[in-house]
Amino acid sequence: MRCPYRSTAESRENIVQNISISRRLIARARLVAAVACTATLLSVSLAAAAAPLAPPPPAPPAPPAPTRLQIIGEQLFNDANLSEPRGTACIHCHRAATGFADNHGSRLGVPIGSQPTALGLRNAMSNAYGAFVPTFQFRVVGGDTDAIGGHFWDGRADTAALQALGPFLSAREMNNPNAAAVVRKVAASPYAPLLKAEFGARIFDTPDLAFQKLGVAIAAFEATPALQSFSSKYDRFVAGDVAFDGNERRGMALFMDTQRANCIACHVMNPASRRPADNLFTDFAYYAEGIPRNKVIPDNANPGFFDLGLCGPNRQRPALTPVVPVTVTIEQFCGAFRMVSLRNVALRQAFMHNGFFKNLREVIDFYSTRNSDPKRWYGPAGVPNDLPAAYVANIIRDKAPFNRPAAAGPLFSPAETDDMLAFLRTLNDGFVIPAPGVPPVPVAPIVQGRK
Ligand code: HEC
Ligand code: HEC
Repeated sequence: MRCPYRSTAESRENIVQNISISRRLIARARLVAAVACTATLLSVSLAAAAAPLAPPPPAPPAPPAPTRLQIIGEQLFNDANLSEPRGTACIHCHRAATGFADNHGSRLGVPIGSQPTALGLRNAMSNAYGAFVPTFQFRVVGGDTDAIGGHFWDGRADTAALQALGPFLSAREMNNPNAAAVVRKVAASPYAPLLKAEFGARIFDTPDLAFQKLGVAIAAFEATPALQSFSSKYDRFVAGDVAFDGNERRGMALFMDTQRANCIACHVMNPASRRPADNLFTDFAYYAEGIPRNKVIPDNANPGFFDLGLCGPNRQRPALTPVVPVTVTIEQFCGAFRMVSLRNVALRQAFMHNGFFKNLREVIDFYSTRNSDPKRWYGPAGVPNDLPAAYVANIIRDKAPFNRPAAAGPLFSPAETDDMLAFLRTLNDGFVIPAPGVPPVPVAPIVQGRK
């Protein structure tokens, strides 16, 4: 007997690689076939040994069939003809295999756009789990005023539909001169008839309206379960379907330890809850963490240039709302960037808003030694080097792990760092429970420069 799909590892790769809804459905079917096939093979060999056969683990339910609007969105998302020059699609900077954020061949921490000389200002951001991003707002909890929500590292787009239109016209991304140029390309595409069926036969006659509709379709695609799959080992652990190994268990305990690592205070999770919204690993709040300056970003060649996140340069400073106490000023948010979900983080190529870190171990080291070894991060002066002096006081210092006294040394031992990494790797989507009797698929080790 010969199985068409050789290993669960292959099926897993399939699921992780494809965010295409249609291909994903096929991948699911192949996975079910692979599990069934493995089970059959097992039953043949185990029958000979007269051992009892445990039932195969349940396959996750198939996602609902995509709507026409979502299919249009997916076509737009994958269409490399919609850039100037042609060749760059949304998916080039948002691939599932690299944690839904990808720097399009750049190793500098910021992406290359459709023009090979156009480097971005910020690291690509994951577009997965974006359906949960709240609109931008201020929130006051326990005396703390936080900014939360909005799309992008600086929250400047209020809805996913508006966000989706930004990259088409950005010179650093897809570089189209205007909305009409994008709409002309879409009108000439093989999927143009789908747009006419969805929005009316004359939709392309009004380019501005058509352009808005492209955003609506992409947002519908980005809200599909393919991008919110909750299919990680962590999710199966929460559901009680799989156990964590020792490293993963210790890493999770460390993540949740409010006295030390305190990751949970911001990257919100609750393994006792099966509600997806309780396990997003972010509360979408903004903080200035004092991330070191990424000197290879072209804008940073000017020592007087600073990316201040909520205070620009890519947005107007947000207006404070009536809930904000009068003692709080917008200047206190300069240098703050929006927290991202840690789901799929171990697959990413670069970390933080400016892509300074190129591997996840370095990120954990930064959390561990920012206060005790500042020279390692900021150079000989040992002071935060990516904010003007006036805003250095905005850097968070009043909560663990950021309140650790310098003299206390690193927060994590090397073994604890390994545990934390093991736990973070359980957040990669596309986890497949090994069939009974088949040894678990080893999780790829994290190596320097390549997660
Ligand atoms: C050249 C790379 C590149 C391309 C192409 C690109 N993006 Fe992005 N994407 C980025 C970067 C960089 C950011 C963060 C930008 C910022 O915060 O200023 C981002 C942010 C996002 C976000 C915000 C996620 C969040 O949580 O707020 C979404 C959604 C997104 N992109 C979707 C898209 C869509 C849809 C397209 C195609 C129309 C696209 N991107 C094309 C690089 C790219
Ligand atoms: C006070 C809130 C806060 C705490 C506590 C916190 N983080 Fe973060 N985390 C953030 C913010 C905000 C960002 C984005 C910062 C930026 O890019 O400037 C971030 C980014 C990250 C990233 C990079 C994600 C990416 O895709 O670029 C990782 C990894 C991470 N945090 C892990 C952790 C771990 C592990 C802990 C516990 C040791 C932790 N965080 C504690 C707020 C927090």
